[in-house]
Amino acid sequence: MLLEAPVYKELFGAIEIYEVQKVIKLDTQTKDVGSFTVKNVPREDIYRILEDIAIVVPMRNEKLQLVDGVLKAIPHQCPIIIVSNSKREGPNLFKQEVDLVKHFYNLTHSKVIMVHQKDAGIARAFQEVGYTTILDEKGSVRSGKGEGMIIGILLAKALGTKYVGFVDADNYIPGAVNEYVKDYAAGFLMSESDYSMVRLSWRHKPKVSKRGLYFRKWGRVSEITNRYLNALFGAGTNFETNIIVTGNAGEHAMTVKLAEILPFSTGYSIEPFELVYTFERFGKWEGVEEYRDVYDQGIEIFQIETLNPHFHEEKGQQHVASMILSSLGVIYHSKLATPALKKRILEDLRLHGLLGENEEPPKPEVMPPIGEIDINRWMRILEENAETLFKFDV
Ligand code: GDP
Ligand code: CO
Repeated sequence: MLLEAPVYKELFGAIEIYEVQKVIKLDTQTKDVGSFTVKNVPREDIYRILEDIAIVVPMRNEKLQLVDGVLKAIPHQCPIIIVSNSKREGPNLFKQEVDLVKHFYNLTHSKVIMVHQKDAGIARAFQEVGYTTILDEKGSVRSGKGEGMIIGILLAKALGTKYVGFVDADNYIPGAVNEYVKDYAAGFLMSESDYSMVRLSWRHKPKVSKRGLYFRKWGRVSEITNRYLNALFGAGTNFETNIIVTGNAGEHAMTVKLAEILPFSTGYSIEPFELVYTFERFGKWEGVEEYRDVYDQGIEIFQIETLNPHFHEEKGQQHVASMILSSLGVIYHSKLATPALKKRILEDLRLHGLLGENEEPPKPEVMPPIGEIDINRWMRILEENAETLFKFDV
């Protein structure tokens, strides 16, 4: 793969965040491109690390045709981890997903683990290892994409992969999914730190309109989130920037070592929260002893602009509004947010009718880092108690 070389980066304490890098050529072999502004990550190198990237596919009531395409597009070497929160009665969509995955496995012999988020066995495993912030008042795992991702990360850790990446189940273009995973691999191959993250941005997010397909440059939510994340970054460093373009990147990947030390927030605020927390905790040279290795190696954040457009299921106005609110809530409640920034957020949200006069955006609910969890014990309890755990070839 040829990518724009990561020329420009911003530093913030132990964090290095690279300017967005466009994919210039999807598939290359030659090692020498003879240009300093273009980085070659040869196909052989990408294929060498794919087996070390577990791909988590969170899903909730998505169209089976889309799920099928996504599964078939994930490179064969990557273990697939499906965490579903789909309906189990009237109709039982989860059962249909299980049938689909079994069929997919029979055809492909891919490595697959699948589990339902509400399986009482998972709740019990969390309960017994003392990780109870993920549970609701009834004692089962809360609904939410962030919660599903945490289960996925733990399963990746149990499998022992070095990296974990996320791919949404509602993607209309299987070829795009295939690229995303290779983009993750390319990012990791450019990284020199054990604590790195690759976040994807799209060149275009097509919308269907009366005039046919319209290739929008940005999604609405990401535009707003990125603007305020950059402002927050500026408040922290005193240097304004526009380097962040992947605030809401659902499609992203990280080393398991990084995943282990990050707290995660609930639901859809998880992606901006990853950045905000990283800035808060590692943007300063404070408490260095606790994370000596992280400060020594640094946290590298790559942003890659995919060649493929991002074409996924539209979930409606309500979904968009709640994503904006929870994303800006994460920024608003950050300890890096200045009074002026908070005021701008409030005004913007009120102007757009997303917030009443005396309201504040929601404060994110935060779950502690999973690094402390005894993974062998968690997995053993899960295996002994789960009713919906399916393991194929793993
Ligand atoms: P968007 O693409 O960011 O607008 O949000 P989506 O609604 O498409 O959600 C992203 C992915 O998370 C999709 O694959 C959803 O099916 C999945 N998802 C949403 N809610 C949940 C949940 O509660 N649990 C799990 N496991 N996945 C979820
Ligand atoms: Co989606």
